Amino acid sequence: MNISITKTTCPKEKPASNTLGFGKFFTDHMFMMDYSKDQGWYNARIIPFGNLSLHPASTVLHYGSEIFEGLKAYRRADGKVQLFRPMENIRRMNTSAERLCLPQIPEEDMLEALTAFVSLEQDWTPSDPGTSLYLRPYMFGNDETLGVHAVHNATFIIIASPVGSYYKEGINPVKIMIEDQDVRAVRGGTGYAKCGGNYAASNRAGERAAQMGYSQVLWLDGVERKYIEEVGAMNVMFKINGEIVTPALTGSILPGITRKSCIEVLKKEGYKVSERLLSVQELADALAAGTLEEAWGCGTAAVVSPIGELCYQGTKYVINNGEIGKITQTLYDTLTGIQWGKLEDSFGWTYPID
Ligand code: PLP
Ligand code: COI
Repeated sequence: MNISITKTTCPKEKPASNTLGFGKFFTDHMFMMDYSKDQGWYNARIIPFGNLSLHPASTVLHYGSEIFEGLKAYRRADGKVQLFRPMENIRRMNTSAERLCLPQIPEEDMLEALTAFVSLEQDWTPSDPGTSLYLRPYMFGNDETLGVHAVHNATFIIIASPVGSYYKEGINPVKIMIEDQDVRAVRGGTGYAKCGGNYAASNRAGERAAQMGYSQVLWLDGVERKYIEEVGAMNVMFKINGEIVTPALTGSILPGITRKSCIEVLKKEGYKVSERLLSVQELADALAAGTLEEAWGCGTAAVVSPIGELCYQGTKYVINNGEIGKITQTLYDTLTGIQWGKLEDSFGWTYPID
């Protein structure tokens, strides 16, 4: 793929590490590429970061044809920058594209776009503990017509943001509200795709939870509203009576790359991991019996995040005395150790950038 590069003439000052937060600052450039049904993907370019110009009838503005990914570039101790399992994000992006009738991108082209872009912007990767350069590839339908159909024109962009921790709590336990009114997704819908609409539909419950002092919502299945699915920006795992339980990928939850990595680490360490149905009642019973030992969420932005309290229909359930548990800490240390190059990557998950 031929990628043209136009460098900015006014590079920005880089923000101080302690001001980063999540997704507030953006680097100097962005990658862009266009698609038309007749030409396929064309005009791959890295250009100065700036506003987009869209036709007022552009598909994405009316019918929400949008998908995205989230992955990070990490600064290793030796100064090099590396990605974590980028092919997993690339494949999931194409799965999401297929679901939303957006065009897929050849895997090798998406990888080339990512690596060329990160290579140019790598100085923006912060080095303080817990910081990274968050990469946000996204695609939207861009037909200039109000007809509803699979898109004929699309735009693919990658932007990057130096980030600190996603939750203000950092690695400290978060409080999560189990949502019993709104649902996020149903089987046959778009739950397994990473599309903007899933998040737009989640905001109402998220706001209600925030008003009551909770960081995020834990979704239940959309049919019986009985079974645990996932949190707003993370998959969830529980340790019940020695067994690690996480909801199975039945089509309505996002197949998280951190989830997959946690399962692989846990299995290697010899833990029993079950991907299965898990009801709120089972969790409540386990808490009452004292067998719900740990709960945590996992995702690229949130890394591994202990859950210290769940609230369901007004009842509060405190887990592990609101403290971080042993397995949660081990997973956090193992994944971040590999990501920041402090531990040997025996899984072959890291991808250094030149
Ligand atoms: N579930 C949802 C709804 C998410 O937005 C995310 C974040 O990407 C995840 C789970 C975790 O996925 P991953 O580990 O691939 O970042
Ligand atoms: C991620 O973890 O990469 C996400 O996409 C979560 C996001 C919605 C902030």
